[in-house]
Amino acid sequence: MSAALVLGLLPLFAWLSAGLVPWPTTWTPVNLMVLAILQGGIAALLARILRAPVWWLWIHAVFMPGIVLAHRLALPPEFWLACFLIVLLVFWRTDIGQIPLYLTNQPSRQAVLSLLPQTPCKVMDIGCGDGALLRHLARARPDCLFVGIEHAPLTWAWAWLHAQSIANLSIVRGDFWTYPFHDCQVVYAFLSPAPMSRLGVKMHAEMVPGSCLISNSFAISELAPAAIVDVPDRRRTKLYLYRPGEKLMAGDSWLSK
Ligand SMILES: C[S@@+](CC[C@H](N)C(=O)[O-])C[C@H]1O[C@@H](n2cnc3c(N)ncnc32)[C@H](O)[C@@H]1O
Repeated sequence: MSAALVLGLLPLFAWLSAGLVPWPTTWTPVNLMVLAILQGGIAALLARILRAPVWWLWIHAVFMPGIVLAHRLALPPEFWLACFLIVLLVFWRTDIGQIPLYLTNQPSRQAVLSLLPQTPCKVMDIGCGDGALLRHLARARPDCLFVGIEHAPLTWAWAWLHAQSIANLSIVRGDFWTYPFHDCQVVYAFLSPAPMSRLGVKMHAEMVPGSCLISNSFAISELAPAAIVDVPDRRRTKLYLYRPGEKLMAGDSWLSK
């Protein structure tokens, strides 16, 4: 049985375990919350034993108590439909691409800004989210052209609206895998571990020598980065810099050239 299947079945095991406890038959719905908390605790414990990533423990722990709580609010079904649509329009096809939404923080924005070439250039953020990073860069570097590509409709609409007053920033709705990188001097990616190998292949196929791919947090395991920049933030962000079209060797510094 695959690990994913086992993890997926954990809540069921936890319900069965919680159900084995001899609960008093007179219990009211208030006590249902106790049962839900117990279920969540057991599921989180089992996930920990199976060495699931820590965020899975949190999901298991709060999922069922959250459902019990939400049920008690007795909100109209339209409310939950609206919530579902908002989540869908923001996270779009995360199930396929495995690239959810999280944003580049302020210290990382500064670090990316300091890594841009001194001369005018074109910078593309592949999966630009709310576009906040690009707005920051575009205002700081009016001599450069910034392009953001985003496929989630609501996130794209937000980024597009807020880019209207910035002349050197354009936000495009689409799938970044279909956009060529050849005319970009810098491509910025803050994605997830899942697409990194494919991104490395695309970088080598399409980016010209002298350009640079900056990946926030996620390395391309098949390639040695030209440099790794440590960002002074709480999550100890690392920016991995890759240069296409050159023999890549660990320790080679793009910054010193
Ligand atoms: C981790 S967020 C990064 C957001 C932004 N670049 C930043 O650093 O603040 C990744 C974004 O990529 C978008 N995304 C994922 N796959 C995509 C694809 N194939 N084409 C365009 N956007 C994509 C997601 O919707 C999400 O908004």
